[in-house]
Amino acid sequence: MCGIVGYIGNKNCVPILINGLKRLEYRGYDSAGIGILTDDNAIIVKQKGKVSLLEEKIEELNLYSNIGIGHTRWATHGIPNEMNAHPHSNNDGTLFLIHNGIIENFHVLKKGLLKLGYQFKSETDSEVIVHLIDSFLKKGFDLTKSVQLALNEVEGTYGLAIVYSKEPDKIVVARKGSPLVVGIGDGENFVASDVSAILAYTKQVIYLEDGEVAILKKDSFSAKTIYDKEIEKEVHEITMSLDEIDRGGYAHFMLKEIMEQPETVRNSIRGRIIDEDGTSILGGLSDVVNELTDSKRILITACGTSWHAGLVGEYMFEQFCRIPTEVEYASEFRYRNPIIEKNDAIFFISQSGETADTLAAMREAKMKGALVLGICNVVGSSIARETNAGVYTHAGPEIGVASTKAFTSQLTVLALITLLIARRKNLSRVDGKTIADELKLIPEKIEKILKLNNEIEKIAEEFKDATNFLYLGRGYNFPVALEGALKMKEISYIHAEGYPAAEMKHGPIALIDENMPVVFIAPKDSTYEKIISNIQEVKARGGRIIAIANEDDNEIDKLVDYTIKVPQTIRMLMPILTVIPLQLLAYHIAVKKGLNVDQPRNLAKSVTVE
Ligand code: G6P
Repeated sequence: MCGIVGYIGNKNCVPILINGLKRLEYRGYDSAGIGILTDDNAIIVKQKGKVSLLEEKIEELNLYSNIGIGHTRWATHGIPNEMNAHPHSNNDGTLFLIHNGIIENFHVLKKGLLKLGYQFKSETDSEVIVHLIDSFLKKGFDLTKSVQLALNEVEGTYGLAIVYSKEPDKIVVARKGSPLVVGIGDGENFVASDVSAILAYTKQVIYLEDGEVAILKKDSFSAKTIYDKEIEKEVHEITMSLDEIDRGGYAHFMLKEIMEQPETVRNSIRGRIIDEDGTSILGGLSDVVNELTDSKRILITACGTSWHAGLVGEYMFEQFCRIPTEVEYASEFRYRNPIIEKNDAIFFISQSGETADTLAAMREAKMKGALVLGICNVVGSSIARETNAGVYTHAGPEIGVASTKAFTSQLTVLALITLLIARRKNLSRVDGKTIADELKLIPEKIEKILKLNNEIEKIAEEFKDATNFLYLGRGYNFPVALEGALKMKEISYIHAEGYPAAEMKHGPIALIDENMPVVFIAPKDSTYEKIISNIQEVKARGGRIIAIANEDDNEIDKLVDYTIKVPQTIRMLMPILTVIPLQLLAYHIAVKKGLNVDQPRNLAKSVTVE
């Protein structure tokens, strides 16, 4: 999730690029840079941190150019620093590019390019593209052809803008999997990862599709596929306001982030499954994989939603890796002098990588000599830097305070880690392959669930005045019950509690009457019959029931007031699906109550104080 912007025309591109980057900053904000051409020379200026710091640096340089590109980075490969910031250039500095996306086969490509004598300056996957294009330029192809040939070798996702000082009349752009839009002006053209960056200058846009390459000159636009087929593109008129555009056209960031989950889960999986071996490959754990596999105990420590992900991780690790696993709140762990043995591995899960309690718990465990591992979303965050090894979730920036897409990406990464360890232990290739295949199907199953948005909104209307909610689930779906209740509390301020369904009879059942809505997470698994009994117990006491059930379950409809049907998958992955309706339910209730969904009262996105 990076932001990209480019300009070619008669004006000075520098302020246009800076303004565009400021609009895009919500997509990534760990470093930024611009690249421009002046009298056939390329000038690149980069800066770690916010766009405003880049702006200060640029002001002193007094730059002027009619062609340039700019980038604000959300790191995926390589820590946020000036070297890893974009644009990246070829070795003689004549060619530079900006990239948004992930190149899956960058290790293989890099190896080949190193053999050809290319020198790499950064740790990014993006830098391979610039050298790859350069290798075709060196063979005598022009820029457009070189880009096409290079992209034929690239696996993964990209939104790209490329400038070459020997062909200073054009910006070549390309797209696959990452958004890219071209803005058509009068004697000037623009490119951006989303329209908010260029809307101040033009409302006429062309959306590129996957596998398309476009050539922007100051007064012309043309497009081809990466296989060199000419294509006609339609010009669209933008009618949305800037504010709407930042939120991707959605009313709130939370809804946008819920809707992004097919893509974010895909990004968490991307390039990490080895089909033929039915296992996963996680570069960040490669140095510690033996130690991790041989660990006698796994501890998982986190806060909030990340702690719920940890609970699901416990079920996964114990079921498939057969390693005893314990999950603990970071705030408790850090202060109780925990027992840490020689062969313990400890995962610290954190979206932000900055949560004070999780960070302190990690430092405590590290001091005691444990193998400390991170599962973080923010690349280069404190936890990511200070752990011995780890895995990034690649969910992109999460703006809504209530965590949604970060959670499903954490579950996805936990499943990949499970696969990695379990295959090195007792899990067969066939069983590993089943898990891998099911995991790959999750994004389209999420898409299907998201289509129930309107249906869920209607259910929200029925329950918006409730003052309490009870969430019940068993096994893998007990942590989902906790997460569903947390979402409801966080944004709708309705008191909600999650329980293992069987525990209901030890207390919560006393609360049940016609005013108590109960959400059952009841997919068809080995505990299904048991949960049906619990449903009947609630029904008998007049409770109003919403059930999250499987698509083929017609029986449950007769027992409950509302059902939300989700597709079937294997048990360990079910939480990635069952949590989605709960996110939407909480969201719609909060909206109907007129509450500030993205910034609920008293809460913070990143709790960096105790
Ligand atoms: C805050 C946020 C939660 C988040 C928790 C842990 O409470 O509001 O959404 O789950 O912190 O944050 P982390 O960044 O460590 O996952």
